[in-house]
Amino acid sequence: MKILLIGKTGQVGGELKNLAGDLGTLIAVDRKQLDLSKPDSIEPAILSIQPGIIINAAAYTGVDKAEEEPDLAMAVNGTGPGLLAKAAKKVGAGLIHYSTDYVFDGCSDTPYKEDDRTNPLSVYGKSKLAGEKALAEAGIPFLILRTSWVYSLRGKNFLLSIQRLAKEKDSLRIVDDQIGAPTWARSIAMGTHKILGQCLNQNWPETKDASLSGIFHLTCQGKTSWHGFAKEIINLSGTGQNTVLHPIPTSEYPTPATRPLNSLLSNEKIKKVFSFEMPQWEDALKDCMSSK
Ligand SMILES: NC(=O)c1ccc[n+]([C@@H]2O[C@H](COP(=O)([O-])OP(=O)(O)OC[C@H]3O[C@@H](n4cnc5c(N)ncnc54)[C@H](OP(=O)(O)O)[C@@H]3O)[C@@H](O)[C@H]2O)c1
Repeated sequence: MKILLIGKTGQVGGELKNLAGDLGTLIAVDRKQLDLSKPDSIEPAILSIQPGIIINAAAYTGVDKAEEEPDLAMAVNGTGPGLLAKAAKKVGAGLIHYSTDYVFDGCSDTPYKEDDRTNPLSVYGKSKLAGEKALAEAGIPFLILRTSWVYSLRGKNFLLSIQRLAKEKDSLRIVDDQIGAPTWARSIAMGTHKILGQCLNQNWPETKDASLSGIFHLTCQGKTSWHGFAKEIINLSGTGQNTVLHPIPTSEYPTPATRPLNSLLSNEKIKKVFSFEMPQWEDALKDCMSSK
């Protein structure tokens, strides 16, 4: 089985590049080889590679910047994945794609289930929802894995920002009323590996088993706030212990994009269909910080 991985330089893509090779012949590409913002580049790339599985880990992930660049965010997160899905149909490929907690408005008191009503508050969330809809309408076998608060030891993320800021500042003000599940990119890649492995064993994407297509929530377990996440990062770090962390409400930290207050995603469906559990967020953070 030929597996095409798009977005190999990203947090999740980088982890998948190291993990997915034992499931088939892995062809990992970057944006020079396939640019999701360039509609003309998508189908020719898919037709020339002829993959059986496409994993799209590429996205426009600048949540605040997307408010200034809505067209680019929509091209990469909405239109591009739709064209990818159409090209996948032409070559008979199944498509694995990632989405976000930011498709919800965060007003629920409980963790969001896959079929709960979406209502994105930001350009980024709207563009990711457009990508979800385009995939679902393409008439192909697809898996959309919604995740949240992704971090790793590469790229731009909250973990690396807090580690840097804690070395520079005596005190930090961190939002304490947005609740979510920090999720290590490697945990997402390992979860994807388990899911794809089981799918391939059941002859995906040819199988007609409808339970192997659709939206799934894939986040680490447990919950915390950004302030709680920062506290744990500092606890586990060798440096920055003297930095005082002040909890503040979202209203005291205005950002261009509005974020949901409740970002929690229920992982019950993935447990039921694929019989595995994601790690607790604290355990994954410890493993990440002691990893290479
Ligand atoms: N980060 C989070 O907190 C978060 C939360 C929830 C869901 N997600 C979702 O999880 C998935 C993976 O996110 P991530 O954090 O791993 O992303 P990331 O680290 O920001 O990486 C994004 C990847 O997309 C590539 N890319 C950007 N624009 C592209 C384009 N026009 N054409 C082709 N490739 C392009 C980037 O390439 P370059 O290296 O060349 O820029 C990079 O490889 C995404 O679908 C994201 O929406 C992320």
